[in-house]
Amino acid sequence: MLVHIKTILKKADAEGYAVGAFNTQNLELTLAIARAAVAQRAPIIIQISETTIKYAGLKPITHIVETIAKNNTGEVPIALHLDHGKSFLVVAECIKAGFSSIHIDGSELPYDENVILTKESVAYAHKHGVWAQGELGTILGKEGLLRRKKKQIKPEEYMTDPNKAGEFVKQTKVDTFAMSIGNMHGMFVGSEKLDLKRLEEIDKKVRQPLVLHGGSGVSVRDIKQAVRYGIRVINIDTELRVAFTSAACGAAKKDPNIVDPRRLLSPAMDAVQKVVEQKIKLFGSANKA
Ligand code: G3H
Ligand code: 13P
Ligand code: ZN
Repeated sequence: MLVHIKTILKKADAEGYAVGAFNTQNLELTLAIARAAVAQRAPIIIQISETTIKYAGLKPITHIVETIAKNNTGEVPIALHLDHGKSFLVVAECIKAGFSSIHIDGSELPYDENVILTKESVAYAHKHGVWAQGELGTILGKEGLLRRKKKQIKPEEYMTDPNKAGEFVKQTKVDTFAMSIGNMHGMFVGSEKLDLKRLEEIDKKVRQPLVLHGGSGVSVRDIKQAVRYGIRVINIDTELRVAFTSAACGAAKKDPNIVDPRRLLSPAMDAVQKVVEQKIKLFGSANKA
């Protein structure tokens, strides 16, 4: 069933587990994520990026998620969230479309500008009964990782300062908070070491649920520790893309004469469902629906 994100996160916070926020792009990924949630009886967040809005259209992708959450998942709670909204405009559009949660990502801006953009978006979201996520600190990965290779940046230059985190959350009134503690977008197994000491400090300064972006590629040990230190949402995208495309390509390679798209997409959905189920178990949210 489609629910407000606060229903999911208040329970997760009270009981001390993390909820998976899984990126969808289309019908097949949405079905696979929802099937995993039902199989594990787990609350989940399904999130949509600006790139996906451009790819699929805001109304079609919103309706796909809402229809599946309302019709295919029984009592299993699913919340719809905007991932990495970079402007007030996209935030406002998603709120109008019916999202219960938005992420306003001003993390690439100077601190004061990030505060201004986040404050404005949070105020608008709250006026409409929607929760807002803010972000402080630079999450490496994708282009960020290339930049890092050229010029060695010291961790304290891009990771979130715990004192600043406390100040940012007070100033902006965000409901959830995303930070940089060694997490990276993409799958860099072995390189994504979390600074758990820093997370512990941030958790002391911020009472709101903490969000770990770049969940793909983070070790099982670090994920488990991060949940102990207050992480309540873990974003997963790349591992779903890898599962989906390798299963679809595998099916095409096995039988190059396939012309029915469903014969490529069904194994892809099964592969994604498997990954989502593993993540749900790891995050501690199985049987919490
Ligand atoms: O963190 C970003 C998400 O993985 C979304 O990526 O903009 O390619 O959809 P995308
Ligand atoms: P990964 O692609 O590393 O899983 O990160 C996903 C994410 O943070 C979406 O916001
Ligand atoms: Zn992210």
